[in-house]
Amino acid sequence: MTIGKVMGIYIAKNQGDQTVPVNLVHVVPGMGIEGDRYFKKTSKTEGQIKTGREITLIEMEAIESMRDQDGLQITPAQTRRNIVTHGISLNDLVGQLFYIGEIQLRGVRLCEPCQYLADRTDPRILRAMTHRGGLRADIITDGIIHINDIITQTTYGNNMTDPRSLAIQYAHENAARFLDELKDFSSIASISTNESSKADILRAAEWTAKHLRLIGINNVQIFPTPGHPLVYGEWLDAGKSAPTALIYGHYDVQPVDPLNLWVTGPFNPDVRGDYIYARGITDMKGQVMVAFDAFESISKTGYLPINFKFLFEGEEEIGSPNLAPFIETHKELLHCDFAINPDTGALSPDIPSITYALRGLAYMEIRIYGPDHDLHSGVFGGAVLNPANTLCEIIAGMHDDQGRVTLPGFYDKVRPIDKEEQAELARLPIDDQYYLKATGAPGLYGEAGYTTIERLGTRPTLDVNGMLSGFTGDGAMTVLPAWAMAKISARLVPDQQPADVYQQMHSYLEAHAPKEIRWSLIPMHGGPASISNRSSVYIKALERALETVWQKKPVYKREGGSVPVVLDFQKFLGVETVNTGFSMPDDNLHSPNEKLHLPTWYRGIDSFIHFYFNLAE
Ligand code: BES
Ligand code: MN
Repeated sequence: MTIGKVMGIYIAKNQGDQTVPVNLVHVVPGMGIEGDRYFKKTSKTEGQIKTGREITLIEMEAIESMRDQDGLQITPAQTRRNIVTHGISLNDLVGQLFYIGEIQLRGVRLCEPCQYLADRTDPRILRAMTHRGGLRADIITDGIIHINDIITQTTYGNNMTDPRSLAIQYAHENAARFLDELKDFSSIASISTNESSKADILRAAEWTAKHLRLIGINNVQIFPTPGHPLVYGEWLDAGKSAPTALIYGHYDVQPVDPLNLWVTGPFNPDVRGDYIYARGITDMKGQVMVAFDAFESISKTGYLPINFKFLFEGEEEIGSPNLAPFIETHKELLHCDFAINPDTGALSPDIPSITYALRGLAYMEIRIYGPDHDLHSGVFGGAVLNPANTLCEIIAGMHDDQGRVTLPGFYDKVRPIDKEEQAELARLPIDDQYYLKATGAPGLYGEAGYTTIERLGTRPTLDVNGMLSGFTGDGAMTVLPAWAMAKISARLVPDQQPADVYQQMHSYLEAHAPKEIRWSLIPMHGGPASISNRSSVYIKALERALETVWQKKPVYKREGGSVPVVLDFQKFLGVETVNTGFSMPDDNLHSPNEKLHLPTWYRGIDSFIHFYFNLAE
């Protein structure tokens, strides 16, 4: 395919001590390729050429030395010739001569003239010059580039020298090891809510830090907190002009109860069919590994076009009590252009998805106290109010017969969605059958007047997460319990505030709790909902990446789950977060037999490779 024409070759003049803007090869598109992606790329390139860029003296010397000592001629062409490039993008051609040596540095085979040049140029100089863009490809020519040369390209993505293909190929070649590492990581019982798991939590933090170092991340540190430690690392070699991504993740997992329902041990990762089973494998150690493996695949085969910072916590599943304070006090360290949160999921293996909204959470505990000790339910049944009965009545009153939450003012701040979004959600390629299957429930239920997808993404809910009272062991015991408790949480949507919901619950209890019992309400953790700007360049870069791998456009969806840190990034760092991930609704997150769909996981790694490259465009 013809992709462009060399229109000018520019070498800067060294004007005294001044360095001046330079571009060596000026490639202009338009050879019958309008509208295709190379055209777009080149427009951007031209912009760069106009403004030029400052080059350093060391670069000037390198150009001169190539020219003088290595017989590189840069002259206007007498006749038009073809230059065949192998799998490189037009964008990569600009500054081509700057990068020739980089290929050699990375151990990729070069065409002869390029090798000749690379052999004769100080690697340090070449490295210093590759401060933008990825691995550069070879030009099959005699080392002479002429004005009016036609640039043609062999099939994209099917060649050893295309940096993306190299990275993808590396990922595929290392697939088995990646899986072994995921198993290793997932065999650590890093349950954040268990006091007894502290040692394992530490092991998981150390595993994360060690792996970061292993794949070439710098300045890896474990930051202690009053709770579980945070792990930080960075890779800033792409230079100041390149964007910086902050990748977030958590290395902690949920408890495993009820243990007897697990087919294999929750911390003995087990591959069965297309799935691997383990606690935390999909939420979210598998997703963390996607980010790691993509980074490794690029860094081992070429050059990373963007800067990275990594931040991992060990307390996500218990409400991240120490994360926001850390972000607030480490703004400089975490300074970035945007964040990536791979802790969400897709709708199904064949529907790549981007999450543009996450619900918030307000978690609390209600306790009801009656008699001062457990009573014989015959001797005293009928004499006092039973706290378990009362708790159930109180909870039953929290919804009306339309499935609406009755806490006073609960819906006051709920932001309604517009018609456009409603229509878009209706077009999502999933239906109620999907949710029936995913849940195994005999029927679906929710707030009247809304579809299932709307209820999950755009409406707030209130749910009991657990209850405890009286006798719950095997067999029967006639007891009238002294107390009862329930863990209850509300999922919030924009613009509800957790603190308001606690207040509403308090008012509700004041109004409805009978005076024959005592009660208390304990607010636990929470965070508001978040919604992202769908047209950000970062989300678009992800969209293209998912499309490349799945060969179809991803859907945009709202997520029912919560990742409160997204709001903290917005608040303290002033950045948007790209939410994605490759877990599935039926992966049994927080349930027995949590699993990860391996084919999707591998596609996830490929997608992240593309995502990282796209971010640099
Ligand atoms: N990864 C989940 C959230 C999630 C699940 C997002 C599925 C998208 C799809 C996360 O680890 C989680 O479970 N978060 C908690 C919130 C936290 C404050 C305890 C949640 O949503 O319950
Ligand atoms: Mn998670």
